Amino acid sequence: MDVKSIKEAEKAQVDIWQYVFGFTPMAVVKCAIELQIADVLESHGGAMSLVDLSSAVACSPSALHRIMRYLIHRGFFKLQESTNQYAHTPLSRLLLKNEANSITSFVLLESSPVMLAPWHKLSSRASVDGGSAFEAAHGGDVWEYAAQNPAHSKLINDAMACHAGIAVSEIVQRYGEVFEGIGSLVDVGGGDGTALRRIVEACPWIRGINFDLPHVVSAAPPGQGVEHVGGDMFKQVPMADAAFIMVHISFSGC
Ligand SMILES: C[S@@+](CC[C@H](N)C(=O)[O-])C[C@H]1O[C@@H](n2cnc3c(N)ncnc32)[C@H](O)[C@@H]1O
Repeated sequence: MDVKSIKEAEKAQVDIWQYVFGFTPMAVVKCAIELQIADVLESHGGAMSLVDLSSAVACSPSALHRIMRYLIHRGFFKLQESTNQYAHTPLSRLLLKNEANSITSFVLLESSPVMLAPWHKLSSRASVDGGSAFEAAHGGDVWEYAAQNPAHSKLINDAMACHAGIAVSEIVQRYGEVFEGIGSLVDVGGGDGTALRRIVEACPWIRGINFDLPHVVSAAPPGQGVEHVGGDMFKQVPMADAAFIMVHISFSGC
């Protein structure tokens, strides 16, 4: 082997471990969300020692130290050298529950056992025709599953809502003119109505109709300028001046 080939083989020997332990970033970030580390840090003024943080999140200091070391390595949180206290980074701020750009609900959805199970079926589904990996894992599509499992439906709706809020705020800010002259707008597959609420807030002349499956709209927050209608978009969609459809290509259930 020449020197270049030897170097490439050595690099492969190192790189392969990223795949052996490829699950760890998601698992540790989920752990940080469940322990509410970002929120606890924020509520204590944005900086805490290991001892104070451990007691606030009810963890053993040695376990939490290892978790924080991994998170810091990944850019979540930093250790302030002068005070030896943990503090936020732009990445860890995305784990704050009530931050406008919070993505915690999406992490909790995609890291749930229900959403991870289909990935274990990928190879078997790739070798047969038809059906999704989700169906192989759960015996029905993701919407059927959600209709039967309210807790999972809530995980989906919260995840969609957290990202819809971010996306629609950008759409309204950058392309607000597309909503001018529209008297009524139906959001097809609008989830819990978050997207439409943001649009109606910014364009109060619009009457918003949030259309989604019955089990989704029955759990959606009422009012705030948005009427909820349940149904199947493949059969009929409520009449309106315009329709709005937003999908998340990153949603692994589809
Ligand atoms: C990927 S989510 C997108 C939600 C929302 N538009 C957003 O971007 O945040 C797709 C939505 O379509 C809804 N949906 C799926 N099948 C549907 C159907 N046949 N009729 C109406 N809504 C449906 C789901 O319940 C879900 O809320």
